[in-house]
Amino acid sequence: MTNFKRIENLERLPREELRVLLETHTPEDAEYLFMRARKIREQAYGKAVYLRGLVEISSYCKNDCLYCGLRRGNHRAQRYRLGREEILACCEKGHAFGLRTFVLQGGEDPWFDDGRLCDIVSEIRDSYSDCAITLSLGERGRESYEALFAAGADRYLLRHETANEKHYKLLHPSELTLQTRLRCLRDLREIGYQVGCGFMVGSPGQTIDCLLDDLEFLRAFRPEMVGIGPFLPHGDTPFAKEPPGSPELTLFLLGMVRVLLPGVLLPATTALGTAARNGREQGLLAGANVIMPNISPDYVRDKYMIYEGKDTRGMEGLRERIEAMGLEIGTGRGDAIAMNNEKLTMNNGGNSEI
Ligand code: 5AD
Repeated sequence: MTNFKRIENLERLPREELRVLLETHTPEDAEYLFMRARKIREQAYGKAVYLRGLVEISSYCKNDCLYCGLRRGNHRAQRYRLGREEILACCEKGHAFGLRTFVLQGGEDPWFDDGRLCDIVSEIRDSYSDCAITLSLGERGRESYEALFAAGADRYLLRHETANEKHYKLLHPSELTLQTRLRCLRDLREIGYQVGCGFMVGSPGQTIDCLLDDLEFLRAFRPEMVGIGPFLPHGDTPFAKEPPGSPELTLFLLGMVRVLLPGVLLPATTALGTAARNGREQGLLAGANVIMPNISPDYVRDKYMIYEGKDTRGMEGLRERIEAMGLEIGTGRGDAIAMNNEKLTMNNGGNSEI
């Protein structure tokens, strides 16, 4: 089978064929995949690119993940947390820009307990009934997720980081387990959240088998959103000397995920924008359909340093860059579209034989 044929049959490809594709694809194969991915995105979402206003509410974190600049063991990290009024002011500014999804993201900071968070979430919910509220605050108990959902949160981002147990142990201290991470994702789904997961590309110890596990996990779990970005070493972490992940492989995986989950919301991530020139644009060309501009107050933007060199750009010039690509900013909340590949493949004139 040629790689073009593999790409045409991607949604039905067994693991070993996915392996061959990941290991042997050429730049021409990548272009072919991206063409398919763009076509599928257009069938699902037309020309819309959805913007999500990212509010980084706290750089405190009780965890010690080996890759992350916000790990508690990094005593050089600058810590801050935003107050209620500051967070609400970010949303107000974002809403005036036309944003209709707010993402409250932060390290696992116990100061943001359910009482404080529910108060903020319900205030945003009451002020902006036309907006989606996304939380990205790590692992919490099921009751906490339930309380936040009841307060008005709609979506939750919690990257699974790697679906391979051994690899998970390599990236995290022993108190964090893949099992707990997956339980959180299942809880979130059961409660009624639209759920996002995702992983880094090229994190230390990642093998092709890890990536195959990630793809198989996504295929089975079918999240509404998937965040994928290259690993970028941070100088004040144990992974300081590790090589960064490949932007090319990140783009290839974005294209694959668009084909495997046609209706998924797929951000061109900040990490991709940081790792490659025009990385976000390249992400959109590979099948992504979401961009998450930073709407945090200016004075904290250089403090939320998950990795070094992070692109802290906000809304400036975004519309122009999206429209220059023949795409447009989506209006409304931009919820995920339920779409199954079988129908889509038939619409495509389906290549059923492998
Ligand atoms: N490089 C790239 N991505 C990182 N993340 C954390 N640290 C890094 C890094 N050094 C990602 C993780 C996390 C998300 C908030 O950022 O996947 O879930």
